[in-house]
Amino acid sequence: MYQNYIDGSWVGARSGRTFENRNPANCDDLIGEFQDSTADDVDAAIAAATRAYERWRLVPAPKRAEILFAASRLIEANKDALARDMTREMGKVLEETRGDVQEAIDMTLFMAAEGRRMYGQTVPSELRDKFAMSVRQPMGVCSVITPWNFPMAIPSWKIAPALVCGNTVVFKPATLTPLSAVNFVKILEEAGLPRGVVNLVTGGPDVGTRMSTHDDVKVVSFTGSTAVGRIVGQNAAPTFKKVHLEMGGKNVVMIMDDAKIDLAVEGCLWGGFGTTGQRCTAASRVVVHERVYDVFVREFVARAQELRVGDGLDPRTQVGPSVSQAQLETVMKYVAIGQEEGATLLAGGHRLETGPYARGWFHEPTIFGDVDPRMRVAQEEIFGPVVSVMRCRSLDEAIAIGNDVAYGLSASIYTQDINKAFAAMRDIYTGIFYVNAPTIGAEVHLPFGGTKATGNGHREAGTAALDVFSEWKSIYVDFSGKLQRAQIDS
Ligand code: UN1
Repeated sequence: MYQNYIDGSWVGARSGRTFENRNPANCDDLIGEFQDSTADDVDAAIAAATRAYERWRLVPAPKRAEILFAASRLIEANKDALARDMTREMGKVLEETRGDVQEAIDMTLFMAAEGRRMYGQTVPSELRDKFAMSVRQPMGVCSVITPWNFPMAIPSWKIAPALVCGNTVVFKPATLTPLSAVNFVKILEEAGLPRGVVNLVTGGPDVGTRMSTHDDVKVVSFTGSTAVGRIVGQNAAPTFKKVHLEMGGKNVVMIMDDAKIDLAVEGCLWGGFGTTGQRCTAASRVVVHERVYDVFVREFVARAQELRVGDGLDPRTQVGPSVSQAQLETVMKYVAIGQEEGATLLAGGHRLETGPYARGWFHEPTIFGDVDPRMRVAQEEIFGPVVSVMRCRSLDEAIAIGNDVAYGLSASIYTQDINKAFAAMRDIYTGIFYVNAPTIGAEVHLPFGGTKATGNGHREAGTAALDVFSEWKSIYVDFSGKLQRAQIDS
């Protein structure tokens, strides 16, 4: 049985209720019971975070950062165990859960280093004997609501910058990955974080609703679906919280006729089926120049059929299960929709449910060909191992198809022609773009986020994250000893 963490103590939910967390590769494997919290628990967490803020904001940023440095070392020391727990609770293969934990190490280190930077500006004043500068100030209690596909990386993207800026946190992880959240918070505790500075409340939508409506919360940072993100934004609007939303994607790989096809195939396999397609950056659309369409498709299909699906704890596995029965059902629904729409099923298309697959949520890596860009499988986020392949006749057409979706997270082009690469770089309207690489693989020191229905204008990661978790204060110091009036003719 795992507890909430409120004001430095591990405590049960006031409701007395719990929920189960099971292994998606084997639903007989019960990982644990977690607190099914309600608004009461959130209120207690927010009260603790509000009290802790008055102390934490006055701790010098380099000292706050020392705790993050210590946390990064603890994550590193426990990397294997943390990855195993994560694979067990959400299914992706060990190599990738180690990558997820590594991303948390990287982000924690990056943000710790910001403790000695966090640059503002000093600028000249237009008046004599007057000094002008801008500084970042913390905002208060931040609600952090995270998804299940990157159970430690994404919490670190939000919590590390929030803390280094001097804020306190109430953290609600996805109900499918509470163990990785408990592990992360235990490490922060062990690293010496004072009580109340980070509070963990597990549970469902009631928890998230309270966290996004409560008067004392100043920032809400949410990663998840566009539908839920819209509700979070609406919840937070009446009290003018700063809201950072990171939502869906329908990311495109464009393959030109001069591309290295082997490289493009490798990229599409990794981008499309890595993490079982459960990344918001997943390469779920591939647009191929008609001159190389057949050769690309032949190779892509052959290689996808060779991918080994299985339990992520088995080192031979390349594609793990879907995270849950509901997610698997979504995948199956879209496979049926694609066929009804007239796309050609080129690979996969079925649930795997016998033998070693009998107790888990497995699906074959699936490829649709001859997809029309307006089909639902080419427009809607599936979040599973399903890739839609389309034809184009030119770079312009590829870019038009690439941009013609509701989302704008990530995109990529495979070409040897630098002119095409630069044109695509400029004309694709996304937050992330890759040349000769797939749509996944963002590094922690660059801004991460997307346009259109993917986001609401903010970015996380890199120094851009500091903009989410701090506010500017402009400071003027007049040392002339007399009243000086800006903008008034003298
Ligand atoms: C996500 O897609 O949900 O860029 C996050 C990547 C990872 C993070 C992905 N570093 O693919």
